[in-house]
Amino acid sequence: MSNYPSTQFREAQSASDAKLITNQVEYHPYLSLKTLRATAAELGSSITAWSPLAQGQIADDPVIGEIARAHGKTPGQVTLRWLIQQDVIAIPRTTKPQRAAENFDIWEFSLSAEEMERVHALARPDGRLGDWIDRDFVWDQD
Ligand SMILES: NC(=O)c1ccc[n+]([C@@H]2O[C@H](COP(=O)([O-])OP(=O)(O)OC[C@H]3O[C@@H](n4cnc5c(N)ncnc54)[C@H](OP(=O)(O)O)[C@@H]3O)[C@@H](O)[C@H]2O)c1
Repeated sequence: MSNYPSTQFREAQSASDAKLITNQVEYHPYLSLKTLRATAAELGSSITAWSPLAQGQIADDPVIGEIARAHGKTPGQVTLRWLIQQDVIAIPRTTKPQRAAENFDIWEFSLSAEEMERVHALARPDGRLGDWIDRDFVWDQD
């Protein structure tokens, strides 16, 4: 399913005999998603991040850029690594074959706990880029 806040995520699982595999929602360094990530973990489900590169904004981020230079990687790779180290599934989009290869090449390095926290600290209240939520739903506060 997609764009379900915690309340409806729980309701949907209660209504289903089958385990819900994933909830595809906007998630990137500028959104916290703390509550929804905890809900997914509690339900034994997962989060799939749409706009995982914040629609390309991560390319100019100084903090992500500094971490990327330290690892000899790109800001896109650091961002995708940050997502998968949280067991989040990511679906980045690119029109460029070389970037598609770059975005898959994230398995041979890892971010430290401190680097993970530095990226989490970039979350901000106005970080949401798109709102595809059902009109009757309300997003979690953080
Ligand atoms: N379920 C939903 O409600 C929902 C809503 C929105 C989107 N989505 C899904 O999420 C997918 C991705 O979201 P999105 O396209 O909005 O955002 P995104 O994947 O975060 O960003 C795509 C942008 O980032 C650039 N990019 C790709 N790889 C890069 C890299 N390594 N470094 C720097 N820039 C890079 C791309 O440019 P280039 O093409 O020039 O590389 C493109 O402009 C979409 O394909 C869509 O299927 C789902």
